[in-house]
Amino acid sequence: GDPPMVVTVTGAAGQIAYSLLPAICAGRMFGPTTRVALRLLEIPPAMTSLGGVVMELTDCAWPLLASVTATSDAAEAFAGANAAVLVGAFPRGPGMERAELLAKNAGIFKAQGAALDAGAAPGCKVVVVGNPANTNAMILSHFAPSIPKKNISALTRLDHNRAVAAVAAAVGAPLGDVGGVCIWGNHSSTQYPDVTRATVAGKPDVNVVEVMGGQQALSETFIPTIQKRGAAIIAARKMSSAMSAAKAICDHMASWVGGSDGATVSMGVAGAGEYGIEAGTFFSYPVTCTGGEWSIVEGLTVDEASRKYIDATSQELQAERSDALSVLSAAAESKL
Ligand code: NAI
Repeated sequence: GDPPMVVTVTGAAGQIAYSLLPAICAGRMFGPTTRVALRLLEIPPAMTSLGGVVMELTDCAWPLLASVTATSDAAEAFAGANAAVLVGAFPRGPGMERAELLAKNAGIFKAQGAALDAGAAPGCKVVVVGNPANTNAMILSHFAPSIPKKNISALTRLDHNRAVAAVAAAVGAPLGDVGGVCIWGNHSSTQYPDVTRATVAGKPDVNVVEVMGGQQALSETFIPTIQKRGAAIIAARKMSSAMSAAKAICDHMASWVGGSDGATVSMGVAGAGEYGIEAGTFFSYPVTCTGGEWSIVEGLTVDEASRKYIDATSQELQAERSDALSVLSAAAESKL
């Protein structure tokens, strides 16, 4: 048959990977007949633990799993990759400033960008999950100049799924009937979950904003709930969302590779200035996917309240970008 799809997963001994790897091997990312060759990247202190994950993957006896490689060498991990899921990142410690977090991660995504640039297969699709995901994707792209920007993305599908689930619950409709929901901007607490154009299949008379209590209720309840959902899960579980993140990563790749059937989904991608966002910013947009490519849904009416949210999350991303770039240029100068 066809050669297996080479899939690199970083942070492979971590929490998200523990839910993600079985989902990939079960065909939730590339379909029920595509075999996968997993390349798992970790940092040296996690290699023993990663060895245990490899034992379990083997013991699962997945028919679709062609091979597993575990390594702490980025060049080996990314060689020949057809898809790369970048989950590993430096975690935010207590009291850590944004600039410090950006600096730690800029180093990681610079190195991994260079390794992808050198070794990835043509057409490799990259999704950055590790936070700050949008800015990490921007850094990675900068250091992977041979990889087209359209092949690099940041995960905001988890936020998207959270918003869809909340709308479905509010209107009492099946999940699959909800359309037109999207996430704008940064995967952070400034993201804007937008339901102003939400629709319910078969119920053209339902006005979702009205059912959800009107604009004021959205800004007081729904929007902050989605923005802070990750923090609520950490508070409850004492660990961050992993099951739902893994599901969202599979959804993201499955839509990208296999198409979204005309549905609007959300992806953090570098646009060309759509909706007044600076070109090249990795910004979550409403997109549709077809033929292995995403395209930003254009021509949507953005109301005044939405515009304020979109501008706020855009400003946060510009600030992250300039912090990250100044860290990198300081690092480059200190090596001279
Ligand atoms: P975790 O701490 O359980 O696992 C992360 C793993 O990455 C660890 O095993 C660590 O050793 C590894 N790692 C660190 N630096 C690495 C490097 N340079 N190369 C390879 N591996 C490296 O964390 P978890 O829960 O799996 O989350 C991972 C990341 O995903 C975090 O940054 C988290 O904030 C982010 N996240 C993003 C979401 C999104 O929607 N974009 C949703 C949920 C989490």
